Amino acid sequence: MRNIYLIGFMGAGKSTVGRLLAERLGMGFLDTDALVEQRAGMSIPEIFARFGEERFRQWEREVIGEICRKRGTVVALGGGAPMDEGNWRALRESGITVYLRESPETIAARLADDGTRPLLSGYTGEGRLRRIRELLELREPRYLEAHIVIECRGRSPEEIMGEILERLGDADR
Ligand code: S3P
Repeated sequence: MRNIYLIGFMGAGKSTVGRLLAERLGMGFLDTDALVEQRAGMSIPEIFARFGEERFRQWEREVIGEICRKRGTVVALGGGAPMDEGNWRALRESGITVYLRESPETIAARLADDGTRPLLSGYTGEGRLRRIRELLELREPRYLEAHIVIECRGRSPEEIMGEILERLGDADR
């Protein structure tokens, strides 16, 4: 069975939905952020602070390269992972890509007090919403290339999982 890749912006619910989906389908679950943290032996904010974003992206590429050789796994990808051309090619070729599309307002509300996303650190209130809008605008053309696009509209993880299950039935697995 092909892998199922959940992509989308920070705070869209990729890890939460991914765990539910894996459980329902009896598949394994992996989270690239968690794997990078394991590999580095430190948290993502620490990686960014000590080594910079480029080193984080290098670890992220390594982890994705290994995952793409597996089968039958649900994977939650870090929000920036699909922007790398090599990652994107490998993901598209080894599985079904599912974009969890959520509004910048909902994302900003969910991440209002989040201190674990280095790309949002230093941005507060309206500034944080603007930053999310800018990043999302840059990334959305790529996200929209996914095999399946789910309009999340603030729905619960269970509802989103239900729609993914329906849509997977239609997709070529
Ligand atoms: C990032 C998203 C984060 C994490 C890192 C960078 C991004 O993952 O990989 O902070 O570039 O959007 P989540 O999407 O799981 O928050």
